[in-house]
Amino acid sequence: MASSRVRKALIPAAGRGTRFLPLTKSVPKELVPIVSTPALEFVVTEASESGISDILVVLSQGKGAIADYFAPNHELEAALEAKGDTQGLASIRRLSSLAAIHQVEQLEPRGLGDAVAHGEQFAAGEPFAVLLPDDLIDERDELLGRMLEVQAEYGGIVLALLDVPRSEISKYGSIAPVDGADPDAEVVAVADLVEKPAAKDAPSTLAIIGRYILPPEIFSALRQTKPGAGGEIQLTDAMRRLARSGTPVHGVVFRGRRYDTGDRLEYVKAVVQLAVRHPVIGTDFAAWLREYVSGLE
Ligand code: G1P
Repeated sequence: MASSRVRKALIPAAGRGTRFLPLTKSVPKELVPIVSTPALEFVVTEASESGISDILVVLSQGKGAIADYFAPNHELEAALEAKGDTQGLASIRRLSSLAAIHQVEQLEPRGLGDAVAHGEQFAAGEPFAVLLPDDLIDERDELLGRMLEVQAEYGGIVLALLDVPRSEISKYGSIAPVDGADPDAEVVAVADLVEKPAAKDAPSTLAIIGRYILPPEIFSALRQTKPGAGGEIQLTDAMRRLARSGTPVHGVVFRGRRYDTGDRLEYVKAVVQLAVRHPVIGTDFAAWLREYVSGLE
């Protein structure tokens, strides 16, 4: 079943970000900077580079700073222009050129499935991508583009999978490959999905990470999905419903570099890794870091 080209993506950004309190009392966690670029900008850039032209950001109340971030700011542009700050100017102008950014408000935090359900009008009957902004994929390693190729070949649902230690699988959705699937394959046909299983019950150590390609049928499945793990409407449960009614589900096993910016320790590691490669401060920072580390006990 070949499918139409995917042009749209949804980014859920309505969570409270309690792991980053007190900052997130007034700053959306999606705008937390990796050096000087918000995590969300990396994710929007990734979508744009994979050919996505329209992005719906699902926001909650008090997260208007996200919409402002991508909207043009003519006054700031004029000020930078007058100062001759071409770099600063280019860095803010690119924001409104990445994709058309739309927004919708999720009134209550009822889970990832509920956030995705807010995209029905936006998707307008087309398949679409979902990108979770906590998951950063290193720009040197392709994931979304490969998922779009798999979707064009098989249609249905395409997941991003990461092989994790069994002790960590309960933090994620997990999948059961179809019988006889090659455990080392890059593309895995999925028989079943389960949200946050206990380690001993997980059908595999393949975890679902934050990139999805979904068919428009997901919306009727979400309407029929009752609250699941954590009392929330789970996207995994709605996808499971589609899988059971015959929608093809495939996973692309990602073996590249991923940073989880939703976790404080992993966030700091991401900042360090990206700072080392930063075009302006990278060399100096790496030299300092070597010295600093050698001085640690
Ligand atoms: C969500 C999904 C889960 C997935 C994870 C990836 O969980 O429900 O299936 O494995 O994202 O980051 P959350 O991290 O929002 O609890």
